[in-house]
Amino acid sequence: MKTYRFRNGDSVEAIGLGTWKSDPGKVGDAVKTALETGYRHIDCAAIYGNEAEVGAAFDEIFSTTDIKREQVHVTSKLWNTAHKKEDVIPALKKSLTDLRLDYLDLYLMHWPVAFRPDVEGFPKSDDEYLPLDEAPIIETWEAMLDAKKQGLIRHAGVSNFSIEKLEDLRQKTDDFPEMNQVEIHPYLQQQAMIDYGKKNSMLITAYSPLGSKDRPDPMKSDDEPSLLENEVINSIAKKHDSTPAQVLIKWAVERDTLVIPKSTNPGRIRENLESAEINLDDGDHAKIKELNIPYRYLDAEMMETESDMYQDIFDD
Ligand code: A2P
Repeated sequence: MKTYRFRNGDSVEAIGLGTWKSDPGKVGDAVKTALETGYRHIDCAAIYGNEAEVGAAFDEIFSTTDIKREQVHVTSKLWNTAHKKEDVIPALKKSLTDLRLDYLDLYLMHWPVAFRPDVEGFPKSDDEYLPLDEAPIIETWEAMLDAKKQGLIRHAGVSNFSIEKLEDLRQKTDDFPEMNQVEIHPYLQQQAMIDYGKKNSMLITAYSPLGSKDRPDPMKSDDEPSLLENEVINSIAKKHDSTPAQVLIKWAVERDTLVIPKSTNPGRIRENLESAEINLDDGDHAKIKELNIPYRYLDAEMMETESDMYQDIFDD
């Protein structure tokens, strides 16, 4: 399995298990299956609402198998309601308690958007957001760096940040994010972000690598393109005696990103990890390169304000 190194030399495996949209009652078994199958990287977040069940699975695996906590890379993410600097460490500690861990390997600021602390779900009006002068991103970031100094997290990063927002943060901090987790797949290839990451020693994780077809209906559009049914992807899969999902996952790894396919199905959890065994050739890469639309499955509209407070979150 390909691994990447953080700036201090710590390593992380390229393929992780995603847990967004993994239902209660299923996510714990998915995590146990993944760890028993050989995954050593699990991607979580407070807002997924399932960290307590993931934590029970960790507890069981670490106490009843040979797999040790320190062999597994665990990521979690700070939700938008806890961006005020005094709220960051309490939110992180809640994730640690739920996950039954003493430390996280990686903590990400989930979105460059702040909600008022009491907001449930997504804001219904602009006054449910915290303007940037009340919760500046640099202050949220510095609180995350404090958590790193305290040993609560090993690495700090962000998610859903554009190059523009990263550049803004770079002017203000000496400790630049070690990771940006963003949507990447053949319809949204984000080559500029991958190049920017390399230039700044920042790793990139690709989310929604399979097109996230199980996301809630309000986040979907009727005419969205299917990655798993794409003809080019299917013909490349056939050529390598593999599956479309394996082609999509291996494509992400061969572009030097981490990738976190979500599944709660034991067969597909295994299939996704086994994508490490296929090798795409230059011709495959050339054909997939042509598929870039660009198309976002997660357009962040539910997080944008009517006013210009939080507009065009991705700066594209
Ligand atoms: P399931 O959990 O039933 O396996 P993404 O990672 O882009 O968010 O996509 C997740 C969606 O892809 C889920 O609906 C998941 O369903 C499905 N999925 C995961 N692995 C595979 C696979 N190997 N083949 C087909 N669909 C998959």
